[in-house]
Amino acid sequence: MHISLLLLIISLATPTICILGDIQLELTHVDYGHQLTKLELAKRAASRSQARAALLTSKAHNSNPLSRANIPFYPSGGNEYALDLAIGTPPRRYPFLLDTGSGLIWTQCKPCSRCLSQPSPIFDPFKSSTFSRLPCSNKLCQDLDSKNCTKNHCMYSYGYGDQTYTYGGFSSETFTFGTSTNIKAQIAFGCGYINGGNLNNCSGIAGFSKAATSLVSQLGISGFSHCMTDDINKRSLLRFGTKEEIYRDIKGTVQTSKFIDGPPGYETLYFIAMTGITVGTKRLSIPKSVFNKGTLVDSGTTFSQLPEVAYNKLKKALISDMKLSASNESTSQIDCFSSPSILPSRVKAPKVILHFKGIDMNLARGNYILDFDEEGVLCLAMGPTTNSFGILGNKQQINMQVMYDLKNSKLAIAPNQCYKK
Ligand SMILES: *[C@@H]1O[C@H](CO)[C@@H](O)[C@H](O)[C@H]1NC(C)=O
Ligand SMILES: *[C@@H]1O[C@H](CO)[C@@H](O)[C@H](O)[C@H]1NC(C)=O
Ligand SMILES: *[C@@H]1O[C@H](CO)[C@@H](O)[C@H](O)[C@H]1NC(C)=O
Repeated sequence: MHISLLLLIISLATPTICILGDIQLELTHVDYGHQLTKLELAKRAASRSQARAALLTSKAHNSNPLSRANIPFYPSGGNEYALDLAIGTPPRRYPFLLDTGSGLIWTQCKPCSRCLSQPSPIFDPFKSSTFSRLPCSNKLCQDLDSKNCTKNHCMYSYGYGDQTYTYGGFSSETFTFGTSTNIKAQIAFGCGYINGGNLNNCSGIAGFSKAATSLVSQLGISGFSHCMTDDINKRSLLRFGTKEEIYRDIKGTVQTSKFIDGPPGYETLYFIAMTGITVGTKRLSIPKSVFNKGTLVDSGTTFSQLPEVAYNKLKKALISDMKLSASNESTSQIDCFSSPSILPSRVKAPKVILHFKGIDMNLARGNYILDFDEEGVLCLAMGPTTNSFGILGNKQQINMQVMYDLKNSKLAIAPNQCYKK
């Protein structure tokens, strides 16, 4: 099916959303479960991050009634950023998790056999004049890894590493981008009737991978960029456009790394080559082979998951540099340390650089340490994985302009303060 931008009208009344030629959307930080303490939230995020990384060994998937349907497992869970998209005619707004680690866009739909709770009313296809079910002959239906044909309707199932799954009708609908109603596109999406797992207080997931069914592929855009803020009261921007458009307004030095091929089964995801880690002025001695399988760049994982050998060296170097002692708040997913005599946020932390081919990613203290002054505890915002590849999570991408130059198959980063102008 040919999918294209139907209409692109620039309205002067909404200057923050439409800027000639490209699309800008607001990115909201998901304030999920705000009744929990920040430390509890961090533990949950760590658990989701590790679950997402553990996908290679999580094929059993017992809780999923659709396990027999051969659902492909993509890394997911712990998605912390949402973008608002409006679906249907008249358009209704739904928050979608921004996920560069998967390739389907879907929301929960009526009639719902099993739906998760979500912040907006469940989408009702019968209340939209532009909704249609897609036939099995649809090109994008054929690109789905797990589908079924029922009465010539394309049925899909899709699963993620953290056991989140959706099953429903593959459908077509008018999506409206931005807070104005100016930019519309006809998009094939999953209308989920049976869903489970964790939507982190969103109403669906927007996959940004290279898969044909992803939002970026369907829009036919040549690149996108995001700048994530950790301030939940601020909004950051997601931008779609050409290299020139996504690089615009970047003041710091831009570093780039060529995307490399992911392991078999992960060809549509974004991998770059990691080469090492520096703590303070010292490059840690980590065998190159540890990073052989590449690193997945994933907005949907909160805390980076480093190959175990690399993570353990990093942890050891930080313990020694910061004179840390273990805390009872540690779990198998997150390492925490106590600092009885000084507020955790006052403990001096060394410079940490994650090295990738072409990119030295300088982490600010807040990119790798979580301070819990009330509890007198600090935790590392990264974890180990025994998975074959590592994951670069969104905590490490905060306050950086992260640019996906799809046309040239490159990831670019530049330092930035991420907030809505
Ligand atoms: C979910 O998000 C809504 C706003 O979209 C907010 O009002 C609500 O408190 C959030 N719920 C949780 C559990 O964080
Ligand atoms: C498709 O549906 C049929 C009948 O309901 C079922 O036997 C089959 O397992 C399904 N296949 C997939 C891939 O869902
Ligand atoms: C850790 O120890 C402190 C102080 O004894 C206590 O308040 C806290 O509840 C303990 N935390 C856990 C997770 O056991």
